[in-house]
Order: sequence, then structure tokens, then C-alpha cells
Amino acid sequence: MSFKISSLSEYFVEYQKSIDQPEKFWSDIAETFKWKKPWDKVLSWNFNDPDLKWFLNAKLNITENIFERNIEKFGSKTAIIWEPNDPNEKPLQITYNELFQKTCQFSNVLQDQGISKGDRVIIYMPMIPEAAIAMLACARVGAVHSVVFAGFSSSALADRINDCQAKMVITSDGNFRGKKNIEVKAVVDRAIEKTKTIEKVIVCKRTKAKVNMKSGRDFWWHEVVKNQTSDHKATILDSEDLLFILYTSGSTGKPKGVVHTIGGYMIYSQYSFQNVFQYENDDIYWCTADIGWITGHSYIIYGPLLSGATTLMFEGVPTYPNPGRFWDIIDKYKVNQFYTAPTAIRALQAHGIEHIQPYKLDSLKVIGSVGEPINEEAWHWYHDNVGKGKCPLVDTWWQTETGGIMISPLAGITPNKPAHASLPLPGIQPIILDTNGNELIGNNVEGNLCIKFPWPSMIRTTYGDHKRCKETYFSTYQGMYFTGDGVKRDHDGYLRILGRVDDVMNVSGHRMGTAEVENAINEHPKVIESAVVGYPHEIKGQGIYAYVICDIDNYSEANLIDEIKETVRNIIGPIAKPDKVQIVPGLPKTRSGKIMRRILRKIASKDISNLGDISTLLNPDIVEKIIIGSSKI
Ligand code: WTA
Repeated sequence: MSFKISSLSEYFVEYQKSIDQPEKFWSDIAETFKWKKPWDKVLSWNFNDPDLKWFLNAKLNITENIFERNIEKFGSKTAIIWEPNDPNEKPLQITYNELFQKTCQFSNVLQDQGISKGDRVIIYMPMIPEAAIAMLACARVGAVHSVVFAGFSSSALADRINDCQAKMVITSDGNFRGKKNIEVKAVVDRAIEKTKTIEKVIVCKRTKAKVNMKSGRDFWWHEVVKNQTSDHKATILDSEDLLFILYTSGSTGKPKGVVHTIGGYMIYSQYSFQNVFQYENDDIYWCTADIGWITGHSYIIYGPLLSGATTLMFEGVPTYPNPGRFWDIIDKYKVNQFYTAPTAIRALQAHGIEHIQPYKLDSLKVIGSVGEPINEEAWHWYHDNVGKGKCPLVDTWWQTETGGIMISPLAGITPNKPAHASLPLPGIQPIILDTNGNELIGNNVEGNLCIKFPWPSMIRTTYGDHKRCKETYFSTYQGMYFTGDGVKRDHDGYLRILGRVDDVMNVSGHRMGTAEVENAINEHPKVIESAVVGYPHEIKGQGIYAYVICDIDNYSEANLIDEIKETVRNIIGPIAKPDKVQIVPGLPKTRSGKIMRRILRKIASKDISNLGDISTLLNPDIVEKIIIGSSKI
């Protein structure tokens, strides 16, 4: 039985069903999956504590739902198409049968190396098929994977290892990205020096970079896999056992480990994948995200593979060897669904139309956007030049915490409206609140986006710190999940996401906390205090603007700025490097000592016509000085 919606009227019927009888709605879908033991109860929830459980006491293994459930039907079908960074290198096509065998072999490796149910395993790898195999093998043996984007620095990696007390790192020797040949294992080595829990490191050979292998700790992937059989009995797990932890930035402190559990995530990732992209059996689907982000988890790996889809995995970058690479890959494999981020669209748009014109792109049926608000200009460029005006564009709003797409058109079903994520998926109950917590009813309203009822793939906790989960998501509004995003419901009842209303920036579709960047800046010995804000950036969506108070003496300001940028790069990674650094003599503060970010945001955005009342500041004179200084940045 399929739960794929095929018309707008059916969408409305299904949506209503999901609201009237949520437990029946989701259990009907869940019944199409392979369970070792059925659930006693569909849902138990409390948003105040918070306590969220789906399919209580049911037993399963998610990889049995990818492999054993479907293998008769899809065994010889291509599961993963892998396109290497260098277009002249041989690509790979891996069938479901092969992926199953490789996953089983690597599951045996994990168990031989002492990994068992509940252990945390860090995956710090380039976009190669072994990364997918590593994730699936963890899931098969019941280990909890935590994929860390391979662009993060050794100290960011160490923080994550320490937070989840990981026992193993799976990595590679190096990473080809565009013209770069990046060290990966060396970063892992430096990270492990700052940690105490890692017992084993498995290293996949990719670039043939020279690496140090520590005897007894480090093992080559190809060597440990060599003699393993491809028989493996999946570990039987509980629906609410952890599937993975994924670290993401928040408004305060260090990144937190968002926890997802098996049963609910499995159901929602498949359901949302099939419905949003309207995937059909022989389609070739491509999501350009990295597996280090939630989009890669849900819509390169789990959603597509649970659906028996062919999912394309691309190792490289959109501009290598030239800015036509995405379009070349689409034509080469006749991609039918293409899912990318607005920042990539804007960057490719800026390279000029001549890079897309040579390509046919006529295989495309659906194009998608994720990660940040898509501006209307980029929407039209994408729709007209990539979708050739005929492909539905799914602008999908969701978050690491939501596990799956929450608000989005269903391709070809929900009428498109530029820059509008449009309508919630069945089972998703958005609500718009004003800052006092009053619900804004009807159309033409703007406020904070909350969700008032649980959905299967929602965050369960933040790893090791349940209080933080409660404070971040369930305390702003009583009894609601608070997203941190602003939203508008327009005159047609369509939702348009307006961006973050908290201190989280969205830089090239990557989430970055202002506090996180400030903490990194403050590590520079000459820095006294800093304040970081986002500002509108043509390509990145938002850029990072840092105001820094320094102990300059007779030090060169230009050098200092470079050093500060480098410090952030070393502590977090290149994606967090500030675009602009302004050395300031002070920061605008309230009488209670709070930095007035609102003013700093306006100055960074060059929007100084209405700074509001600054007379109540502790130091109103500083504002003028910062404005004068900012004109030179
Ligand atoms: C933003 C990425 C507007 C939003 C899946 C959210 C979006 C944050 C959209 C989550 C969209 C994501 N339109 N904004 N279609 N998709 N966002 O956790 O601010 O990396 O809160 O998850 O990205 O980012 P995250």
C-alpha cells in the first residue's frame, strides 16, 4: 500500500485525517514497515517535560527496512550512484544487493572491533560510499552514529567526541574537494589528542595521502573488511533507541547534540521523501548536501534508501572543474529530482548563464531548495533556468531538530508560490504566535513559528543535557515546540519563512551560533570582547560580521583582523570565518550590561536610518563611532 499523495484534494483529506486521528494516521503508515515486534502504543507525549515516544516498545532494525524488506524487489537496482570530485575518475554504481553485503561486512567489522549497541561512533568522512556504509553499519549493530562535517576543525571534532563520549572514529586518509586535497586523518589525530574515549580509528583510503597509523588503535578499512563475511544478523532494537546524534548550533554555548531515535525517524524520513519529491520507481534522485548535515542524513541516505530509490552522492563542489558541474552531472545521469541550497543557486547564478546554457536538463521533473530562505530572484532563476519553467520547485522548510521536511509544497501537487514553503506536510501542526504567546489566527499574520503537536521524527533530547532541550525548544512558549524561525501566513494561507528570530545565523545554508563564533574570536590573546551578528550577503544569504574590542597597542590592525579570522577558522572551521571584522573601541550596552545586538545588526546591514532609541544605552556615544568605523569595512 502506498501512502503517496497524488492530488491536492487528497492532500487536504490526508492532512485532515492526520489532525483528527494522528495515531491512526501514523500507525497505518508504520504498518507497511518491517517490525520484529509491534508497538503497544503509538504515541506518548508531553511537551512540558519534554517526553516524546513513538511506537512504544516496538522492536526493529532500520537497515532491515532498507534491505531485508525491499531486497526481493530492488536487489539488482542501483542504490547509490557515486560521482567523484574529478569528472575523469571512474564513477561507481552500487546496487542494493551490493550495498547490503558491504553494510553487513562492515557491521561485522564494527562488532569485531568492540562496538555494540548504544556505543557512539563518530563518522568524519568525505562524500564517498563508505560514509553511507559506515552509517548503515552503525544502525545495523545498534551503535549511535554522529556524523561530523569533514570541514570542521580538530577542536570542533574533539568537542563532539567528548560530548558524546565516542568510542570510535571512522574516517579517511584525505578528501578531494575541487582543486584541494585536504588532510582528514591528520585532523582526527589532533582531535583525539584532546579526548579520552576513542579506542579505535578506521581509516578508508581515498587520496593516498601519507598518514600516521597508530598501532593497535588505527586500522585500514580495506584490511579489516577483507576477511569479513557478508552475513550479518541485524541487532534488534527498540523504536526509541538512539539512531543518531547530530550536532547543531544554537543561540548559546557550544553546539548541541540533537538526538533522533529509530522508529519515528524511519517512518517520517520515508514518508516525507516520497511525498515531497513524488519519487517514482525508476527515478534518479540527487541531493547535493553533505552527509555531515541533517539534509544528507534524511534525504541522501535514509529517506531515499528506505524508499528503494537511486540516490546520487557527489564528492565534489559545484564549481569544479567549472561552474557547469551540477548541470553536467544532471545530464550525465539523467537526474529526475534535484535538491540543493539557495546559496549554491545564487553562487552559480553569479557565474553567468553561459555555464548552464550548454546543458539540456530535460530529465528533471522536480527541483528543490533547503537550508535557508530562498529569495525571489534566486527562486525565479532556479525555476526558469534549471527547471526550464516546467518543474515544480519544492521549497522545503525544516531543521536538524525536526528530522524531516515539515513545510513544503508536494511536487506537482501544491501550487507553487515563489519563496513560500507553502503548506505543512500531513501530521505537522504549525502555529504562529506573537511575542506574548498569543496565537495569530487567520491570514496576513506574521510571528514566531511553533509546532503544537508531535510528529514522528522530532528531536527527543539534546545528548547528555535534557534540560537544554527543554530550555531551547519547549520553554519559550508553554506546551509548544519553538522553531526559532519567524513566519508569515499570507492572504492565501501560504507560509513564508522569514528567517531566524534568535541569535542563530544562517551562512551559506549552514547554521552558526553567534555565541560560538564569539567564543572562538575571544580565544585570540589580544581580544577583550566581541559581538557577532549576521548581515545580508548576496551569495551566502547571511555573512558573519564581528565587532571586536582589542588590546591593540602598536599592533597592525590589518594583521590583527587576519589573525582573528584565522583563529575562528582554526577553532571551528572555514565555514565560520567572519566575512567582516571591525575593531571597535566599545560595544553598545544596556544599563544591565547586555550587548544591543539589534543596533549592531542594523549597522552591519547598512541600515542606520532608524536605530531606535539609543538614549537609554550605557554608552550612547559609541554608536556613532561604530557607524563611522563601519563605513571603512
Ligand atoms: C533555515 C536544515 C527558509 C531555518 C534542513 C531553520 C529555511 C534552519 C529553510 C535549520 C527554508 C531551512 N526556508 N529557511 N526552506 N530550510 N531553513 O538545522 O532558519 O541546518 O531554522 O536544517 O535553516 O537549519 P538546519
